[in-house]
Amino acid sequence: MDAATTLVIFGATGDLTSRLLLPALGQLLAAEPDRRVRIIGAGTQDWTDAELQKVVRTSFAASDAESSAEHVEVEYHQADITRVADLKKLLKDLDGQVALYFAVPPSVAAAACDALTPEMIPDGAMLVLEKPFGTNQESALALNARLTQLVPEKQVFRVDHFLGKSTTLNLLGARFANRLLEPLWSAESIESVTIVYDEKLGLEGRAGYYDHAGALVDMIQSHLLQVLAVLAMEQPATLDETDFREATSAVLRATQVMGDDPTASSRRARYTAGTIDGVEKPSYVDEPGVDPARDTETLVEATFEVRNARWAGVPFTLRSGKSLGAPAREVVVKFKAVRHLPTGLTGSAEGAILRFSLGPDQMSLELNLNGADDPFVLERATLSASLGAGQLLAYAEVLSGILDADPMLSVRGDAAEQCWRIVQPILDAWTRGEVPLDEYPAGSRGPERWPRVN
Ligand code: BG6
Repeated sequence: MDAATTLVIFGATGDLTSRLLLPALGQLLAAEPDRRVRIIGAGTQDWTDAELQKVVRTSFAASDAESSAEHVEVEYHQADITRVADLKKLLKDLDGQVALYFAVPPSVAAAACDALTPEMIPDGAMLVLEKPFGTNQESALALNARLTQLVPEKQVFRVDHFLGKSTTLNLLGARFANRLLEPLWSAESIESVTIVYDEKLGLEGRAGYYDHAGALVDMIQSHLLQVLAVLAMEQPATLDETDFREATSAVLRATQVMGDDPTASSRRARYTAGTIDGVEKPSYVDEPGVDPARDTETLVEATFEVRNARWAGVPFTLRSGKSLGAPAREVVVKFKAVRHLPTGLTGSAEGAILRFSLGPDQMSLELNLNGADDPFVLERATLSASLGAGQLLAYAEVLSGILDADPMLSVRGDAAEQCWRIVQPILDAWTRGEVPLDEYPAGSRGPERWPRVN
C-alpha cells in the first residue's frame, strides 16, 4: 500500500474545495485505489471534522466516487492562515509527503505566504497556488520572489487545469509521435493557428472575481496561452518537468502581440440579454454584482506571434467568451495551400486543416481529394478520430502531479510572469479606449461584424 500523502487544504469550507478540488480527488482515488490521502482542512469557520467529512462525501459523490471517501482520513482545524501562530499549529508534526493547497482568494494566499517561514514548511512539501497568479506582471513577480524564499521552484505548483486536459496532452502525441506532422510544424507550412474556447456558461454567480478579471485575464492570460505554448514548443527530449517546462517557457518568452499593435490585434465584447437553449439570459450588466462602468469584456479575440525561427509571421488567434450559442472549443491548425496545382485539376485547393476539439476530444484532418463524381474536380474530405475523454478530469490529472510532487504540469514561475507580460499591451490599449467594447446577444456567436476566426 502506498504511503499516505497529506493534503492540507487552506480554504476547506470554500466553493473551490467542494466544486473542483474534492470531486477531482474523488475521481483520482477511484481510479487509483492504492493511493492514500489524508486531508487536513483549515478555514475560518467553526466546523467539525464530521462537517468536512460530509463535504468530502458529497463532493466525491459528484464524481461517482462516494466509496473512496471511506478510505480518506479527514480532520478540520479552525485557523486564520494569515496568522503565524495558526499556521505553526497547523503544520507542526506533519510528516511524509505533504501538499499545502491554497484554495483561497489570491490576496489571502499572498498574505499566508507572507506569514509562512521556510522552517514552518514540512520537508519537500508542495505549495499549490490557484489562478489567478497575481493581478499583473509586477504582483506575479513579487509573489514569485516570496515563494522562492520559502521553497525551491520545484516545490511550487501553479495550477492551470488546461495543462491537464487530455486534448492539450494529445497535442504532444500527435506532433511528436508522427514523422508526418513534425516536419510541417512551422511557418514553412502553417498559415495560421486558432485556439478557441467559447462557453455557453455565463457568470454563474462569480461577478466578484470575473467583473475584475474579464475574458482576457480569465481565459487567455492563463489557459489559452498555455495551450499555445504546448502547440508551438520545440521538441523536448523528455516530458519531465525540466525539459517540458523549459520548452513551453521558451515559446512564451518569444510571444508578442501580433505586429506589436494591440489595437489592431485585439477585439472585445460584452453580452446583452438573449436566449440560450430556450432559457432567457440577462444582459451582463444586469447580472448581480456587476459594475457596468468597469467595462468588463465577456468575449475576447487576440492575435499573437511567436517570434522565433520556427513561427515568425504566423498569426496565433486566441478567442474565448461566455454566454455564446453553439460554442466551439478547438485548436485549428490551418496549413498553407500547395504552391502549384497541376493544370487540369479544378475545384478548391485550400490548405489542409487539422482540428483538435477540446471536448469532446476529437481530432480531424480536412484534405483535398479527387471528387467522387469527377476525379479531376477536387473535393474536401475529412478524416476524423475520437481521442477519448481521458480517464481523469483535467483537475484530477493536475492533482495527481501535486500529490506525487511532480511539477511537470505546473506553470513555472517565469511562465506565469511571461503570460502577464504578453497580455499587458492589450490591457493598456483597452484602458486608453483604443478598442471599442462591442456587444453580442447571449446565445449568439458573438458580434455580427466580427469575422469568423475558425
Ligand atoms: C476557469 C475559468 O479557469 O476555466 C472559467 O475561470 C471557465 O471562467 C473555466 O469557465 C473553463 O474550463 P472548464 O474546464 O471548466 O471548461
